[in-house]
Amino acid sequence: MNDMTTSRSSNTVWHPELVSREDRERLNGHRGLLVWYTGLSGSGKSTMAHGTARLLHQQGVRTFVLDGDNVRHGLCADLGFSNADRQENIRRIAEVARLLVEAGQIVLAAFISPFRADRQRARNLIPPGDFIEVYCHCSLEVCEERDVKGLYRKAREGIIRDFTGISSPYEAPEQAELVLRTDREEIPTCLETCVELILERTRLNHSSS
Ligand code: ADX
Repeated sequence: MNDMTTSRSSNTVWHPELVSREDRERLNGHRGLLVWYTGLSGSGKSTMAHGTARLLHQQGVRTFVLDGDNVRHGLCADLGFSNADRQENIRRIAEVARLLVEAGQIVLAAFISPFRADRQRARNLIPPGDFIEVYCHCSLEVCEERDVKGLYRKAREGIIRDFTGISSPYEAPEQAELVLRTDREEIPTCLETCVELILERTRLNHSSS
C-alpha cells in the first residue's frame, strides 16, 4: 500500500448492506463487470466504450462509461499528466468503477492508463473474473496520422509535454483478455467482439472465478 492508498479516515465503521450486489444483479438481469480499455490517445478507446454501451443499452443492459477526457473535467480536474498524477487518476477511477460494479453495472472505462502497475492495481480492486482488460492496439503511426484532436502535432512541436507515445511511455498489456486491432479491423467488428465477450461474462449463471 502506498501513500495514496493509505486511508486517513479513522474512526469510521463500515455499515453492512441490506441489499447485496447479487440482489441488484438479479433485478438487473445480468452481472456487473468492469471493462478496462487501454491504449494510446486516438487508438479508439472512447469509440469502443461508447459504442459498446449503446449496443448493450439497446439490449436492456445497464452500462456506464467512464471516459478519460470527461473524468478529467470533474473528478480528476486537479490532475495533470505526470506519472504520479496518472497513477492517482487511475486509482480514483478504479475506486469509482468498483462502486459501480457493486451497483451491478457494466462499467466501460476508457483511459490511456499507460502503466501496467496502475492497471494491475485497478484489477486487484475488483473480484476475480469481473475485470476485463481490452487493449485497443493501434500503432503510434496510425494514431499520429489520425491525430483527431491535433495533440500529436502539438506534442511533436513540444507545446504539450509528457505526451504518451511521444515523450511519455506506454506499457502495452501482456495478458489482456481481449486485444482489438483498431488499426486493422473495422469499428463494427471490434464492437461486436466486445459485446459478445461482455454478454458471455455477465450472464447471471456465469461463475466469476
Ligand atoms: S491517463 O494517462 O491518465 O490514463 P487519460 O486517459 O485520463 O490519461 O487522458 C488522456 C486524454 O487526455 C487524451 O486522450 C488527450 O485527449 C488528453 N491529453 C492531454 N495531455 C496529454 C498528455 N500529455 N498525454 C496523454 N494525453 C493527454
